[in-house]
Amino acid sequence: MDKKSAIDGGNHAALWHGRFKEGPDAEAVAFETSIHVDARMALDDVRGSIGHATMLGKTGIIPAEEAEAIATELANIAVELKTGKLEIDTSAEDIHSFIEGVLTDRLGDAGRKVHTGRSRNDQIALDERLYLKRAIPELQKNICDLIEALIKIAEKNTKSIMPGYTHMQRAQPVTLAHHLCAWCQMLVRDYGRLNDALERINLSPLGAGALAGSGLPLNREMTAADLDFEGVTANSLDTVADRDYCIEFASCFSLIMTHLSRFCEEVVLWSTEEFKFIDLSEKWSTGSSIMPQKKNPDFAELIRGRTGKVYGNLMALLTMMKGLPLSYNRDLQEDKESLFAAYDTTTSCLRIFTYMISTAKWNTERMAAACVGGYANATDLADYLVRKGMPFRTAHGVAASAVRKGIEKHKNLEDMSLSELRECSELINNDVFDKIAPEACVQARLTTGGPAAERVNEQIAGLKHFLDSAN
Ligand code: ARG
Repeated sequence: MDKKSAIDGGNHAALWHGRFKEGPDAEAVAFETSIHVDARMALDDVRGSIGHATMLGKTGIIPAEEAEAIATELANIAVELKTGKLEIDTSAEDIHSFIEGVLTDRLGDAGRKVHTGRSRNDQIALDERLYLKRAIPELQKNICDLIEALIKIAEKNTKSIMPGYTHMQRAQPVTLAHHLCAWCQMLVRDYGRLNDALERINLSPLGAGALAGSGLPLNREMTAADLDFEGVTANSLDTVADRDYCIEFASCFSLIMTHLSRFCEEVVLWSTEEFKFIDLSEKWSTGSSIMPQKKNPDFAELIRGRTGKVYGNLMALLTMMKGLPLSYNRDLQEDKESLFAAYDTTTSCLRIFTYMISTAKWNTERMAAACVGGYANATDLADYLVRKGMPFRTAHGVAASAVRKGIEKHKNLEDMSLSELRECSELINNDVFDKIAPEACVQARLTTGGPAAERVNEQIAGLKHFLDSAN
């Protein structure tokens, strides 16, 4: 294959080289080409061109037979790309030039008609939207897989009590299932946010041209329908200048990463000797080159660490956009690197977290033991007194005095004698011990969304219903 550069008339010559007497410097070419990034949208580019060519034929802008020949050849190109028969020539300037170049090599003049009434400015906006419309559901599937993995663990642990924390201090007992369902809720919102963003990109940009539409009688609505868009974008200038969707998706990814990072922080803490709530599988841990005993939660740490990269991608996109006048500016080419990097990082982190968490062992005895001590049942003692008619503020004081006494005597509330407790309030009777056992504390919390097994089973049912409707 002729290895002349794309710009100065090599095999897949730059689409704009006609105006130039001289080709640019090789370093300039390397600097401005984007094929290494936009190659991943090859099939979307082909699909978009089929839609565009079909419309050109139906509206009579180009002869119907030529439109058909273009569509057929593009379909062949798609198959060859998928099977690897056709390799992407990385010396092409971008994916649009490459596909158009191959088409023209094969069809001659008919191929030279595919770009009628189109600019790479609306073409790239189309490719990105088509790509996101197929790639985002794949990422959403990864979210669902993680929710499913968490539900499986939760179902087995609706009675496994563990301390709930505020300020990283033992606060009130909950269950492992309740805790994992909390994680799931974050993921459900992440899924929904992606849907919201998908809805907004469901408009076809094709026909916006370079910036000012077209004087040819293009039928934008026809291409939109053919390419499964709900409608067309409203303003051609905005269409080629808009990258809100990149920022929206990168924000969605950032939030997913925030959540994963928080989960990972807990996994790291829980796998310490001090906590020992979780035992990560050897497959999803690493060792130390010097300390033979180590089993480190590196995967959780790496996910936590990679979160910063995704935030960085979001920041790069926001910063890229902030000073751009209308309409298209070449700065916009930089969007894909950040968007794809954020997508890839988020996808792999979701997958790795799912493997890591579903292969871990849960030390429920240790969790239950952690509910003892730390006075996590003090609120329940107060609630006990409230049930006996005491105003809550007074009950809070009584329970606090019981805690003080416990600290002095090195005893948990449930280990104190009835007479010791009664020194705090005469309303306390023998039935108190049933009420302040950690299991009883959890079971009494029957408010919707709370930790009692019945309530968590409802949450699990809700999550399963979500998964059914999501898949
Ligand atoms: N590679 C370009 C991008 O990603 C495609 C559009 C090029 N348009 C142009 N006028 N040079 O934005």
